[in-house]
Amino acid sequence: MPINDTSRLRERAAAILAENDRGHYTVPTRGLYPFQWNWDSCLTALGLSQLDEARGWLEIETLMAHQWPDGMVPHIVFHVNDEGYFPGPHVWRTGRPTPTSGITQPAVAGFAVRRLFERARDRRLADTSARRLLTKIDRWHQWFFNNRDPDGEGLVAILHPWESGRDNSIDWDEAFERVPTDGIDAYVRRDLQHADASHRPTNAQYDRYLWLLQCFRDLDWDNSRLHAASPFRIVDPGFNAILIRSCQDLAWLADRLGEGDIARRNRNLAERALAAFETLWSETHGQYVCRDRVTGSLIDSASCGGIMSVFAAIPRIRATALARRVETLARNSRHVVASHDPADSRFDSHRYWRGPIWLIVNYMIADGLANAGEADTAGRIRRDSLDLIASGGFAEYYDPHSGEPLGGGSFTWTAAMVLEFLRNND
Ligand code: DGY
Repeated sequence: MPINDTSRLRERAAAILAENDRGHYTVPTRGLYPFQWNWDSCLTALGLSQLDEARGWLEIETLMAHQWPDGMVPHIVFHVNDEGYFPGPHVWRTGRPTPTSGITQPAVAGFAVRRLFERARDRRLADTSARRLLTKIDRWHQWFFNNRDPDGEGLVAILHPWESGRDNSIDWDEAFERVPTDGIDAYVRRDLQHADASHRPTNAQYDRYLWLLQCFRDLDWDNSRLHAASPFRIVDPGFNAILIRSCQDLAWLADRLGEGDIARRNRNLAERALAAFETLWSETHGQYVCRDRVTGSLIDSASCGGIMSVFAAIPRIRATALARRVETLARNSRHVVASHDPADSRFDSHRYWRGPIWLIVNYMIADGLANAGEADTAGRIRRDSLDLIASGGFAEYYDPHSGEPLGGGSFTWTAAMVLEFLRNND
């Protein structure tokens, strides 16, 4: 039944956050994702804090408590046992006191913490929480540039598609050809017990996800060795834009908290990355695209990763071009922003990151566009996002043509983003 009224949308969003709340962290959704995911949690904290500020801070503090000694913040924290998910801790074998995965995820924490801090009504709590998180996030940012930019190009590489969060994007197809599938342990996928196989990555992709995992595991998860060893090294504009934004936001926060060194370091990292960012611009596509760091070439794939670049302070001329890109996509599908260009023959309106719309992506793109003065396009994205929820409920993702809800249901970060979109309208 369509949910047309704003207060009912808010109520339903709050109910989903409560349903997926495990006390000190939230699960993305029951069944399909039964643990704590890194960027899910940081974006969810925005919604949680609208209902309970302390609970919002706690979400990020729980995640950061599982930071590795080298500074990495893992993409999953396995707080409990749950055989319903693959690959679980016995596959990762990272040796952490509370088991975690061994790869990372988009560094959205710096952005989220600034936003919580700016909005806080409880100033004392905000001060103590932000101070505790500041040093940890700073260490994570340094980890990125030390381990994922060994030649000092200014931008970082992902070594596994799961790190981008856009697991089966068309962006990775070509590079994935290089990833072998021999020697992987026998496994049973669990995601297909919870979601429709036609909405999920293929078995051939899972084999390669597993090969990379085993390759890194064989190197004892020593982050100083993984970049050189991985046949998959991609400089993703979306991933880098999130990191740049987080560096800038952390610098802002560090200034307020009197931590000059942290502020300077993060501002420098962001400036260097922004200077290098222009190398990812594609005139052919009128947007940023990924670079394959193994071959050195730009990847011929126009995904939402390139449009998410606007989340960082890219040049105004580029932000305007990205607003035009969103408008072009809007002519090719009923709803925006498709995770891949519907005009591309590889587009698939149902399959995870190969076409469907994700509310967190919409949120970051709309935020960046609004900051760049592209209020109309930002407003269009916001309206579309709320329309999708009103007609399809709080799904994991949506078909950009039909608006059909896809993947998991009762999805935590979708609910959090609804609260965010509604708040921005107040
Ligand atoms: C999954 O299991 O689908 C996740 O996206 C990996 O993080």
